[in-house]
Amino acid sequence: MSEKRAIPEHVAIIMDGNGRWAKQQGKERYEGHIAGVESVRAVVRAAARNGVKWLTLYAFSTENWGRPAAEVEAIMELFCKSVMGECDDLKRQGVKVRIIGERTHFSERVLTMIDHIESYTEGGERLTLVLAFNYSSRREMVLAMQSIAQRVQLGELKVEAIDDDVVADSLMTRGMPDPDMIIRTSGECRLSNFLLWQASYAEFYFPEVLWPDFTEEEFDKALEVFARRDRRYGLVTDEN
Ligand code: IPE
Ligand code: IPE
Ligand code: MG
Repeated sequence: MSEKRAIPEHVAIIMDGNGRWAKQQGKERYEGHIAGVESVRAVVRAAARNGVKWLTLYAFSTENWGRPAAEVEAIMELFCKSVMGECDDLKRQGVKVRIIGERTHFSERVLTMIDHIESYTEGGERLTLVLAFNYSSRREMVLAMQSIAQRVQLGELKVEAIDDDVVADSLMTRGMPDPDMIIRTSGECRLSNFLLWQASYAEFYFPEVLWPDFTEEEFDKALEVFARRDRRYGLVTDEN
């Protein structure tokens, strides 16, 4: 009997390369972001089909506010349009959407869309799709430290009681398992302020393909790579 292939419970993706894809096609950068939405659809389908329970997508970093205003505006517009266009389909597929990141700097419309997609898909049980939107891992950790310090100051928490679980429960990802695999497309090999605490034992995969070219087959390929990895967690296993 063949052994069952290991499937990651949580896959996180840094969706990178939209701008370069657009340039290759002689298009504007925002057209790359639009094309990237099809890849989001594809990975949601592929994750659900493979039994992945959590899919986190890095959609907009806190640093991305520093891009030209027209590009930021186009991304915000695309987010709103995608929420309206995709919410029924997501619900039908049993996908629950959760947004992590600071709820600052957003327009009222974007805030309304965030609330809408989260409440509309609340009952989804097949897959949780987490969108990191206005997300910064360092900021997330600073906020966690502030809240822990406050609880200590109020006498609710003893300093000695601060452990991994207390920290994890103070992050925006509370209640989520750590990512088993982190994929970054476009060949860049860095985290860019994404899930720094949570990535401790993640398997990294950096395909060259640009995000708008990332298909269901590319996701399946990533799962094959994952299944071949030997996760040791600092221990000694049969293979070594
Ligand atoms: C990723 O693609 C999308 C966001 C960061 C919002 P980029 O826009 O970073 O594409 P490149 O890296 O310039 O090609
Ligand atoms: C990281 O990509 C953020 C997202 C994919 C949303 P960037 O393109 O912004 O990162 P850098 O600037 O190359 O590190
Ligand atoms: Mg980029």
